[in-house]
Amino acid sequence: MIIPISSVLSKDEVALFRRHLDNANWQDGCLTAGTQALSQKQNRQLDVDSKLAQQLSDKVLHALALHPMFISAALPLKILPPMFNRYDGGDHYGFHVDNAIRIVPGTSIRLRTDLSATLFLSEPEEYQGGELEIEDSYGTHKVKLAAGDLILYSSTSLHRVRAIEQGQRTCAFFWLQSMIRSHEQRQVLFDLDQSIQSLTQLHDHQHPDVVRLSSSYHRLIRQLADT
Ligand code: NI
Repeated sequence: MIIPISSVLSKDEVALFRRHLDNANWQDGCLTAGTQALSQKQNRQLDVDSKLAQQLSDKVLHALALHPMFISAALPLKILPPMFNRYDGGDHYGFHVDNAIRIVPGTSIRLRTDLSATLFLSEPEEYQGGELEIEDSYGTHKVKLAAGDLILYSSTSLHRVRAIEQGQRTCAFFWLQSMIRSHEQRQVLFDLDQSIQSLTQLHDHQHPDVVRLSSSYHRLIRQLADT
């Protein structure tokens, strides 16, 4: 499952994020890497305990909660507060798989990472290289989205960030536990919901077929969802 979600942040919001992030203190990304990731990782991250990181993280969570396509694709149960990273010339993050379990900082809440997400805060023309490469059963996918757009992908996928050749790449990233553990089931629910949304545009939400399909969607959610 690799799903692009457009316009999570508006261009104005991106500009506001960037004004703050371009003046922020960035730390060595290796401070938060696990032992396996350590040798692979060269980038910088914003201190998660800083006030700025917490404020921007809250803004991303707020934007996600208002985005119907994100909710439909992810069906999130728990979202780890978004963090921020920056890649300059030569920075990279070699092929790795994300940890299966994360603890929400400052709490004892555990989260199973079903989906990984990267929210782009730099425009593609601001840097060369630096593509996010995700492997799945169909091959390798190179991802470089417009600022404000997000990519959602299965946390079981092997992935890397290719070395930056020029410029600077700033992103937010996070993990989430979905109400639907199975990627296959979540994909079916997403397809069904997207079709219901387009049928609603064509007819209206009272149309008997729309009502029946919506009812089927919610019956499936009741059967499959963890809450
Ligand atoms: Ni990763």
